[in-house]
Amino acid sequence: MDRREPRPLAAGPPELLSQPGRGGFLLRLPALLAVAVIAWSLWALYQVDGRRALVGAAAALAGWGLAWAWQHQRQQRFVDALVQRLAGRVSGPEERNGRGSLAADLRGDARRIASAVDAGDRRWREVLGQAQARSDLLETILGSMVDGVVAQDARGRVLLFNEAAEALFGCRRGEVIGRPLLEAIREYDVADALETAMREGAGVTRTIGLARLGERELQVRTAPLRSRSGELHGAVAVLRDVTEMRRLEQVRTEFVANVSHELRTPLTALKGFIETLLDGAVDDRATARRFLEIMRRETDRLVSLISDLLDLSRLESPRLEVRLETLNLSDLVDQSLELFRHRAGTRGVELASELPSPFWVEADESLLRQVLVNLIDNAVKYTPEGGRIWISGSREEGWAEFSVSDTGPGIPRKALDRIFERFYRVDKARSRAMGGTGLGLSIVRHAVERQGGRVWVESQLGEGSTFRVRLHAGPTSEVTRP
Ligand SMILES: Nc1ncnc2c1ncn2[C@@H]1O[C@H](COP(=O)(O)OP(=O)(O)O)[C@@H](O)[C@H]1O
Ligand SMILES: [Mg+2]
Repeated sequence: MDRREPRPLAAGPPELLSQPGRGGFLLRLPALLAVAVIAWSLWALYQVDGRRALVGAAAALAGWGLAWAWQHQRQQRFVDALVQRLAGRVSGPEERNGRGSLAADLRGDARRIASAVDAGDRRWREVLGQAQARSDLLETILGSMVDGVVAQDARGRVLLFNEAAEALFGCRRGEVIGRPLLEAIREYDVADALETAMREGAGVTRTIGLARLGERELQVRTAPLRSRSGELHGAVAVLRDVTEMRRLEQVRTEFVANVSHELRTPLTALKGFIETLLDGAVDDRATARRFLEIMRRETDRLVSLISDLLDLSRLESPRLEVRLETLNLSDLVDQSLELFRHRAGTRGVELASELPSPFWVEADESLLRQVLVNLIDNAVKYTPEGGRIWISGSREEGWAEFSVSDTGPGIPRKALDRIFERFYRVDKARSRAMGGTGLGLSIVRHAVERQGGRVWVESQLGEGSTFRVRLHAGPTSEVTRP
C-alpha cells in the first residue's frame, strides 16, 4: 500500500462509500456453481415436467437480467461520481476549496486511482508554485532595472516590456504586448537591432538616437532567444540611456582641454622669456628686470590657477566635510573686505558693509570665506575707478540672504546663466589681464550649494551687478533678529 495514502474518512459521500469490485476467480466460482446447479435442476425438471422447466428457465433468466442491471447501474453511478470528483480536482484551486484528498472518500481500486491522482495533483501544485515564484522573481528584477528590456517573438511581436522601457518609449506595457514591435514603439533602429540579432543569430550592440524623447542617446544590446535545443524563439534588447554619461564625458573632455590651454599659455610665455634672457637679454639689466616682472606675473597666474583647480576638486569631492555652525557673517565680511582695502584704495573704489551686527548664518566658516573672497575679488577687479562696492543682507522665513553689489560694467543678459560655469568669462582677454582664472564663480556656486544654499546674479549691462547668496539662517536667528 502507498504510504502517503491518507486514511479513509469515517463519513464520505454516500454514493462513493460502497462500490462494486471486479471480483476474483473465487468470487466468480459460486456464481458459476449456482448457474451449473440451476441448469442441472432445470434439465432434471425437464425430464419430469417440460412446461414447468421452461417457466423455471424463464424465471432464472429474468432474475439474472435484473441482477445484471442492478450491478451495471451501481457501476455507472460509481464511475460518474469518480469522474465528477476527478474533474473537480484538476479544474483549479477554487473548485477544490474545502475538500480533502480524493482518496479519502474511496475504497479499493478507485482509492488507488484516486491516490495516484492526489499525488499528481500535489506535484502539479508544487511545480505551479515554483513556476509562479520564478515568474514573480523575474518580474521584480525586470521591474527594478534601470535599463529598458524589450523582447520579441520570432514573428516580431512584443513578448516582454519592462517599466524602464515604458518610460523610454512613453507607452504602457498593456498597449504593446502581442503587437508587432515596430508598430508598437515606432523606433526603427531598435526593431532593426532585434531583427539583426535574429537574422545573424548573434548579439548586436549599437548606439542610437531617440529624437522623439528630446534627443536622447540610447545604447542598445540585443541577443537572440533560443530554446535548449537551439531553436530560435525571438530576440531580447537591453536599452540603456547614455545621454547623461555622454554629457559628462564631454564636460570632462572640455575641462581637460581648458585646463591644458590655461596652463600652456603662461608656460609658453615663461619659456619664451627664459630663452630670450639666456640669449643675452640677461646682460641688459633694465630688460632683464622687465622680463622677470612679467615672468613673476605669469608664475602668479599659474599658482592661482592650480590653487583654484585644487579648491574646485575639493569642493566637488563627496569626501569634503562640511561643518555647519552659527556664524556672525558681519565679522567675516569685515575681515574679507580688509584683504581688499588696499587694492581698492589705490583705484579709488569704495568698500562698505551695510550688514547689521550680529548677522547670524548657518555656514561652514572656510567655505563661507571662500565665497566672500571670490565675490569681493570680482567686484574689485571689474569695478572701474571711483566705483563703489557694498554688502548688505536681509532675512526671510529661515533664510539669511546677503548680496555683494558693485557699480561695475554689469553682465550681458545672455551670460547671466553661464558665468557660474568653469572657465566661462564674458571677456576672456580682460579676465586674463586681471589675473583671473575663470574658476572663481564656479567655486562660489559649489561652496554655497555644499552649505545647502543658493547663489544667483542680477545685473544689467552698464548698471553694475548684484550677486545674491541665500543660506540657512541658523537656530539663533529668531532671537537675534535685527
Ligand atoms: N562683479 C562683476 N562684474 C562684471 N562681471 C563679472 C563680475 N563678476 C564676474 N563677472 C564675469 O564673470 C566671469 C567669471 O567670473 P569668475 O568665475 O570669477 O572668473 P574670473 O574672475 O577669473 O574671470 C568673469 O570673467 C566676468 O566676465
Ligand atoms: Mg573671479
